[in-house]
Amino acid sequence: GPSTVRVSVIGTGYLGAVHAVGMAELGHSVVGIDVDEDKVAALSDGRAPIYEPGLDELLKKHAETGLLRFSTDYAEAADAEVHFICVGTPQRADGLAADMTFVDLAVDALAPHLAGACLVVGKSTVPVGTAQRLANRLTKLAPASSDVELAWNPEFLREGFAVQDTLRPDRLVFGVTTSDAEVTLRELYADVITAGSPVVVTDLPTAELVKVSANAFLATKISFINAISEICEVASADVTKLADALGHDVRIGRKYLNAGLGFGGGCLPKDIRAFMARAGELGASHALTFLAEVDAINLRRRERVAEIARDMIGGQLVGRRVAVLGAAFKPDSDDVRDSPALNVAGRLHLQGAHVAVYDPKGMDNAKKIFPTLEYAPSAMDACRRADVILHLTEWTEFRELDPARVAAVVNDRNLIDARNCLDAEAWRAAGWTYRGLGRP
Ligand code: UDX
Repeated sequence: GPSTVRVSVIGTGYLGAVHAVGMAELGHSVVGIDVDEDKVAALSDGRAPIYEPGLDELLKKHAETGLLRFSTDYAEAADAEVHFICVGTPQRADGLAADMTFVDLAVDALAPHLAGACLVVGKSTVPVGTAQRLANRLTKLAPASSDVELAWNPEFLREGFAVQDTLRPDRLVFGVTTSDAEVTLRELYADVITAGSPVVVTDLPTAELVKVSANAFLATKISFINAISEICEVASADVTKLADALGHDVRIGRKYLNAGLGFGGGCLPKDIRAFMARAGELGASHALTFLAEVDAINLRRRERVAEIARDMIGGQLVGRRVAVLGAAFKPDSDDVRDSPALNVAGRLHLQGAHVAVYDPKGMDNAKKIFPTLEYAPSAMDACRRADVILHLTEWTEFRELDPARVAAVVNDRNLIDARNCLDAEAWRAAGWTYRGLGRP
């Protein structure tokens, strides 16, 4: 097999934890560094800080192989040949731009420990131009005796599929300034490349831009179908059939054409905003004005679903009971960052409804940011005495609900399927008023 490389992964949040595990699974010797002691303790104990299928198993496996360890001490990264920067770049509190504090702090903390010839590889999603800025910073801060190079290797993993996306990505992108860096990255990912993932080698700014462009495209595709869904609604057409028909055109494709409550999470919303902000800084804001529309279409969905719920029960929410199925921003995730489901739940609550929420994995996180909602121990409990049920995150568990059984516990049989994936006929047959989005 390929040779073992000594790797450090700086930042063990979503991206870093999965990447560290992935590198160990590829046979490399990995140390994950994080300033958060609780996170490091949990990871060392084989517990992922987030719910992600397959992650706990691999953490345990590589604690045993000895290929994976975690520490709060940057000095532990000193003997690594490759250092991955995997810290977060959230939206700034004061605007649309990305907050680069964590990236800068990570580079500053790592630099004094760098020794010999080594490669620092950026994976975080950053404004274009960051890589060059960090390269200059490293040249200034690393010991004179070291020989540090910087590369950019963006990450495209989806939550819920993070492990498989890391081990078998659609493509690898290497932003490099020398062929040495390319050789090192090819060696690191040898098994992934052998397994068939194509490699695109390019310069630093192009590599940075691939990531934000990909997310901008996906967000645009979702908002496109949601805009069409608004037209379907006023024209009594069916957006799901329309999407099926569009999807047969191989130039378009069916993926990311699911109309509904729109996108949320820790990536798409903040990435399109940061992209617009960066374009502005570069004097090219005109090029990305369409992304403001993409954002607006997306946010309109949340307002609209709350409005449909209110109308469905006669125009008044005060004192009425609403069941919300789903809190995570998407199924198979416990992530509630910018969750459309939680946003709608919050809107209805603020308009005076009694809102009971159930989500298979996202409730603990939801409670932290929205403690005033009721959190029910099961979907059936959430639905008890409800005047309307809102299906907002498409967990498999919700598709398996029996319409007749649910009917027996509610006050009124009103259902909004904001993800357009429940069996409309089955619910209607059981006496429900079923409403999809963009469907008659
Ligand atoms: C996304 C990108 O897919 C990934 O490549 C990148 O690295 C990070 O951002 P993720 O945030 O995990 O990944 O979620 P994804 O599965 O892409 O879904 C994003 C949002 O779009 C979810 O809220 C989902 O519900 C919504 N969505 C997706 C739709 O509303 N309709 C669709 O057709 C697809």
